[in-house]
Amino acid sequence: MTTSGAQPTWDGPAVYVEGVHKSFGEVQALRGIDLVVERGHVLGLLGPNGAGKTTAVKVLTTLLAPDRGRALVEGRDVVRSPEAVREIIGLAGQSTAIQEELTGRENLEIMGRLYHLDAETRRRRAGELLERFDLGEAADRPTRGYSGGMQRRLDLALSLVSRPAVLFLDEPTTGLDPRSRLGMWEVIRELVSSGTTLLLTTQYLEEADELADEIVVIDHGKVIAAGTAQDLKNRVGGDVVEFHVVERDRTAEAVEAVRALSGSAPSVDADAGRVSIRVGGSGSSALVETVRRLDARSIHTEGLGVRRPSLEDVFLALTGHGAAEGDAPASQARRGRRSGRRS
Ligand SMILES: Nc1ncnc2c1ncn2[C@@H]1O[C@H](COP(=O)(O)OP(=O)(O)OP(=O)(O)O)[C@@H](O)[C@H]1O
Ligand SMILES: [Mg+2]
Repeated sequence: MTTSGAQPTWDGPAVYVEGVHKSFGEVQALRGIDLVVERGHVLGLLGPNGAGKTTAVKVLTTLLAPDRGRALVEGRDVVRSPEAVREIIGLAGQSTAIQEELTGRENLEIMGRLYHLDAETRRRRAGELLERFDLGEAADRPTRGYSGGMQRRLDLALSLVSRPAVLFLDEPTTGLDPRSRLGMWEVIRELVSSGTTLLLTTQYLEEADELADEIVVIDHGKVIAAGTAQDLKNRVGGDVVEFHVVERDRTAEAVEAVRALSGSAPSVDADAGRVSIRVGGSGSSALVETVRRLDARSIHTEGLGVRRPSLEDVFLALTGHGAAEGDAPASQARRGRRSGRRS
């Protein structure tokens, strides 16, 4: 870890953000964001397309100046001491930092040079990171031939060359296949267990759930919920019991039978005969009760089961719209780029 002797010791949180605003012309990307990340913790910044995640990361990594508000990384002010902030952070942004005509190893070594590492340290670190990210075999091939997953891994490796104390990862697993995603999670866990403070953005609740100590949900540039993954799920209203009615014309009857099991109205897809009920707390007792009530009326179902709230459920509950339905026109345009890769 690089620490500057000139900096006084900081006892506060690793990341502190208060009332940060940022607009691009008419678009208010951040409308008064507050965030705290304790040292050694992982904060998951969750939000749909256009919510302001990347803008927040850019402010914290000194790439964008906020219009208003204050942002500190390890006590260093991003506006007043951007150099001091850059000394201790790493960033793997949403767009790649890779130079594609160079090999993986060359990319890493150049990054080392940017951080003024001596030749021997540069070489050693590049070698270590290539091994750690399973890029050893591809190390000396031009990166333009790397798969999306390999590029994401190299991007993360590049952000670690300087051994940052605070790491920012902007959607580190978007576009990765399930196996690569699990691999990425493992690497991230390892980093955190070695003491790195991490702020990661994601559109996937399960990812925040797996990795984050705390989650902050933003939408339209504002924090709309914060807490642990469990807190958020509880706010959605516990588990979801779901089933299909075999005789579609009895769907309404089925809804009537189970309505009392939830504080909120069941969500019904009449064409598919699908009924979803948000139940408070654990779904298993609600599941048993659902079976009992449907059985009593001889309503046959298929695919009856209980599941945890999904990202969509959380967004529906918190924002009244799905995660894929951010409504800023600019975000609509931006989404096309990746929509095909979202599950
Ligand atoms: N340089 C820019 N110029 C104009 N508008 C911008 C710029 N950067 C971001 N915006 C707008 O600010 C809003 C927030 O964008 P941001 O990139 O922070 O969202 P995001 O949460 O990272 O979205 P995504 O999930 O698509 O990456 C969007 O409406 C976006 O179009
Ligand atoms: Mg973004």
